[in-house]
Amino acid sequence: MKFSLLSSAVIGAAAVSALQTIEAVGNKFFNKDGSQFFVKGVAYQLIPEDPLVHTEQCARDAELMQSLGANAIRVYHVDPKADHSGCMSVFAKAGIYTLIDLDTFDTYILPNDPWWNQTQHDRYAEVMDAFVKYDNVLGFFIGNEIIAQANQSMAAPYIKTAARDMKTYRDRKGYRKIPIGYSAADIAELRPMLQDYLTCGGNSSEIIDFFALNSYEWCDPSTYGTSGYMTLQEQAKNFPVPIFFSETGCNVPGPRVFNDQSAIFGPEMVNDWSGSIIYEWIEEANHYGLVSYGPAVSATVTGSNIVGGFTVAGTPTAISPDFDNLKSQWAKVTPTGVASSNYNPSKVSTRACPTSTASGWLVQGNVRLPELGETFSGSYTTAPTAASTTTGTAASATSTKNPAPVNKEIAGMSAGLVGVMLFFTFWL
Ligand SMILES: *[C@@H]1O[C@H](CO)[C@@H](O)[C@H](O)[C@H]1NC(C)=O
Ligand SMILES: *[C@@H]1O[C@H](CO)[C@@H](O)[C@H](O)[C@H]1NC(C)=O
Ligand SMILES: *[C@@H]1O[C@H](CO)[C@@H](O)[C@H](O)[C@H]1NC(C)=O
Repeated sequence: MKFSLLSSAVIGAAAVSALQTIEAVGNKFFNKDGSQFFVKGVAYQLIPEDPLVHTEQCARDAELMQSLGANAIRVYHVDPKADHSGCMSVFAKAGIYTLIDLDTFDTYILPNDPWWNQTQHDRYAEVMDAFVKYDNVLGFFIGNEIIAQANQSMAAPYIKTAARDMKTYRDRKGYRKIPIGYSAADIAELRPMLQDYLTCGGNSSEIIDFFALNSYEWCDPSTYGTSGYMTLQEQAKNFPVPIFFSETGCNVPGPRVFNDQSAIFGPEMVNDWSGSIIYEWIEEANHYGLVSYGPAVSATVTGSNIVGGFTVAGTPTAISPDFDNLKSQWAKVTPTGVASSNYNPSKVSTRACPTSTASGWLVQGNVRLPELGETFSGSYTTAPTAASTTTGTAASATSTKNPAPVNKEIAGMSAGLVGVMLFFTFWL
């Protein structure tokens, strides 16, 4: 495809210096200058395969994201072989960081019969190799909602193994210590056991660098006390690593007013949480969009830039009043947090590896992590170190007020394959 002129606003922003890199220390993110960083993000996946390859489109979106007050995007799927330099540059100039999922359509860790092998490792590594050079990469996800049901918690050690191996790879290559974390479905029966398990065991090389939650519990009108956020906060107190919302923004009954943002960035939660990513930028059939690129058409219509009945390219138009509601919420909450020079990361908690319960969390304590090439055999053995004695008490499950909507993101393999076909028919 050809690139035409970038939008003048983004060109104008070229004077802005490169973004500072961000690192995770204790349970916070810090800019290079020592100021704390809070994520105000949007989920961005216009097309299934890779939205970070169309510079002109990225520029149009970056400009509107800047006016929204966003400082980050989350991208679920990228093609490591494509050139991302144009999009990464226009987002950087707009002050926008990226969080990238390392898995691709055929490298997911599967929840029911998990394995982790060299093929997955190398494909994840390719994505990392393609993005480490950009200062505005804030983090990598090992996966999104790999565990999607309460009875899939036996897959958790594979998530931890993948994180361990990707951290080892990152460090062996001498890459910047870009945080590597996991984006979890909000499953009441597994809270807080999953987040505790992924950070337990006492070896910092083997735990995730951040934990992120896709949660749709707060549906306005609601409050901190009645939404379920109070429970999330209790479970996140002094968490060992940064914790934030990697998807949020309930859309029932609508219009969305995003009052949860004042809790996340306000006195109730700001000391323990690092922000939120709103689901999602583009309007699709699930009606979570903040912008649209044109009126919906019949779901059966096919066209050069139509996916599932929605236009996926062009000039973004803010959806009213949701877009402006979020913009004004974010304008009201501008926490400064703590400076790294005044922050003592040793004050965070350590989490015990949870004990299993019959119908809840299924992994007993600190199990031996699977090795590269291993397929789940049906059970785990205890880790052979002293740390294995650190088992905790299973926390009681709490109810999820509003379960996450189904099919809210483009995650399915078949959607991906359809996307690949569309991608080749309309962009090349
Ligand atoms: C990893 O597992 C997948 C699925 O079973 C298989 O196709 C691939 O060949 C495996 N890779 C290696 C290196 O064994
Ligand atoms: C796991 O739970 C789901 C519903 O949440 C159910 O459909 C499925 O059969 C369960 N699987 C097993 C192996 O129990
Ligand atoms: C911590 O984990 C890493 C990676 O698995 C391992 O190489 C190292 O030996 C572990 N350290 C201790 C003290 O067990």
